[in-house]
Amino acid sequence: MSAFIKSLTGLGFAVAMAFAATSAQAAGESGCGTFTNAKGVEEHLACSTAPIDFSNKGSLQRGATMFMNYCAGCHTAKYVRHSRIAQDLEIPPELVEKYLLVTSDQIGDQINNGIDPEIQAKWFGAPPPDLSLETRLRGDDWVYTYLLSFYEDPSRPWGTNNLVLHNVAMPHVLMNLQNQLGEEEYRSRVGDLVNYMAWMADPVREDRKRYGFYVIIFLLVLLIPVYLLNKEFWKDVK
Ligand code: HEC
Repeated sequence: MSAFIKSLTGLGFAVAMAFAATSAQAAGESGCGTFTNAKGVEEHLACSTAPIDFSNKGSLQRGATMFMNYCAGCHTAKYVRHSRIAQDLEIPPELVEKYLLVTSDQIGDQINNGIDPEIQAKWFGAPPPDLSLETRLRGDDWVYTYLLSFYEDPSRPWGTNNLVLHNVAMPHVLMNLQNQLGEEEYRSRVGDLVNYMAWMADPVREDRKRYGFYVIIFLLVLLIPVYLLNKEFWKDVK
């Protein structure tokens, strides 16, 4: 029986470690900056939850279109090829070639506008970073909250500022869209964009979670023959 208990303890330990790692990561991602409220007191800005759903191909497709139209002019995504977008997001390659090849003319190319970051730093004050892995660096919710937190600020060069990244060098590039769509529809479109960015940063994330579940089930089932074998081996020794 002790072998069984030992195995269970081992399994329990592994599960506990996995939970600890996940919650540590969540804690690291919590908090989306600070702002000064009407009374002049510094307050923490809670992150909004990004609507991530890789099974929603429509949302990913809308997000990809937004990324190519509104972001790829300044930001690169050097680890992502247009052909992968076509394949994974189920967009016919002809449509990708027609509408999404904004920064290059070959579907096998990465998303790279080829602009020298040093020149961009001169234009904006800071170079726009590569966004391939942005949601892994900052967290989905951080990026979502950041994109929703631009506000008017006449003291800044672009007339806008951001609650999450104070005095940000990026203009509010979605301002026209925000004015056109109204708040609810705008949030939903930004949700699509962040869903796409999360896919771009880790295309197999959802698959990995599903496989992880099956692996745990497999290990639990494996425990039965292993326990019985162990009993069989030690039967004569004891
Ligand atoms: C006009 C150029 C320009 C466009 C277009 C643009 N950005 Fe930016 N972006 C910048 C610059 C410059 C920075 C650096 C800001 C800083 O460090 O102050 C930045 C920073 C960011 C950051 C923060 C990076 C970090 O971790 O500090 C994110 C996220 C981001 N951009 C997302 C986007 C998305 C999504 C779009 C498309 C909707 C977009 N940007 C469009 C210029 C641009």
